[in-house]
Amino acid sequence: MGITLIKISAVYFAVGVVLGYYMSVVHDYALTPVHAHINLLGWTSLTLAGILYHLFPALAQSLTGKIHFWLHNIGLPIMMIGLFFVILFKNEALLPLVATGATVTSLGIFSFVFNVLKNLKAS
Ligand code: HEM
Repeated sequence: MGITLIKISAVYFAVGVVLGYYMSVVHDYALTPVHAHINLLGWTSLTLAGILYHLFPALAQSLTGKIHFWLHNIGLPIMMIGLFFVILFKNEALLPLVATGATVTSLGIFSFVFNVLKNLKAS
């Protein structure tokens, strides 16, 4: 699971950097919130979680680890795609989608935090 998360995070890294590069070239920074969250919740957070799951298999094997894996990977794309279109079309009709994605992602992260506090032990 750790290695899979690191591979997924590398894809987020590429998407986030492409978005940053695009904003720099066209001098339009409206999509900065999408860029920042793809890089921080997609690239850095998932890489760190992946490294922890790889270093401490007990974290990856626990139910809370699996819950984190799925909620983070389902919620974040929903939130990012929703936010992308809210900003692009200047239309708030998709805000409930953003809120749903954000809620799912947050629940996944709470599961991750619970897992680390409960199951991370020095070997
Ligand atoms: C080649 C890579 C990157 C490019 C070209 C790039 C480009 C940009 C641009 C154009 C902005 C908007 C600046 C503005 O609104 O004035 C921005 C904001 C931001 N970027 Fe990147 N970025 C890159 C990589 C990253 C990475 C790797 C991260 C985090 C891991 C990151 C995190 C952020 C954050 C948090 C902001 C918001 C800053 C703020 O609003 O104060 N960026 N980036």
